[in-house]
Amino acid sequence: MRIPMIAANWKMHKNISEAVQFIDQYAELLNAAQLETVICPAFPLLAAVGEACRRHGLRLGAQNMYWETAGAFTGEVSPLMLKDLQVDYVIIGHSERRRLFGETDQQVARKIKAACQHEIIPILCVGETLEQRQAQQTLGVISEQVTTALAGLDPSQVRKIVIAYEPVWAIGSGLAATAADADAVAAQVRKIIGEQFNLKTAQDVRILYGGSVNRDNIAEFMQAAEIDGALVGGASLDASVFAAIVNTAAEVSFA
Ligand code: PGA
Repeated sequence: MRIPMIAANWKMHKNISEAVQFIDQYAELLNAAQLETVICPAFPLLAAVGEACRRHGLRLGAQNMYWETAGAFTGEVSPLMLKDLQVDYVIIGHSERRRLFGETDQQVARKIKAACQHEIIPILCVGETLEQRQAQQTLGVISEQVTTALAGLDPSQVRKIVIAYEPVWAIGSGLAATAADADAVAAQVRKIIGEQFNLKTAQDVRILYGGSVNRDNIAEFMQAAEIDGALVGGASLDASVFAAIVNTAAEVSFA
């Protein structure tokens, strides 16, 4: 069975004391221990947030990573550095990284491979832009992003990966995809993985939806058969809002 997951993508928000206070507040409001919660803060917060997460049984994620282990790569952070901080997950290929920092599918693939090699579970983000959606290119774009990112991996690595379907137009816009549309894309992602690897692997991969998830729409996404959770940006910054999202997700998943 795929364990449902809600991941918080804090992006470039919060300082250390705000972050630790969030975790303590959030943990008090939480009544959903069976569901996996991952907190993904900015790099400078990883140590403090990690300590707080371990106190409360939450998982820790980073928002990016370079593929080399060490060397002259000014400004980059390596998988070994993340391992040292006991990071469990790493978001790879978020659309903000692709759009604002020029990350390509090939770079995303190298990062995914490095994360797998170092046993940090990647949360691979894929999604189409508004123009691509309007041109009916959604499935083609997703297919290309998934296939390139996972090329060369073993099925045993792929089955542990988390994929987040995040339509670019839905991120931070207040305009989420419908659960039915997101479910159809998630089904397509499983089909692609089934063809690239095998059916068992496709069934094991967890697929999240991301893009304007909030406390009011989370239930619909959790009810969708192919969707195993959510990657939450804006609505993950407030402890009570995020706890409401996770508690609702757990109620739906374990009903
Ligand atoms: P959002 O962001 O929830 O604020 O739309 C999601 C994301 O970028 O991962």
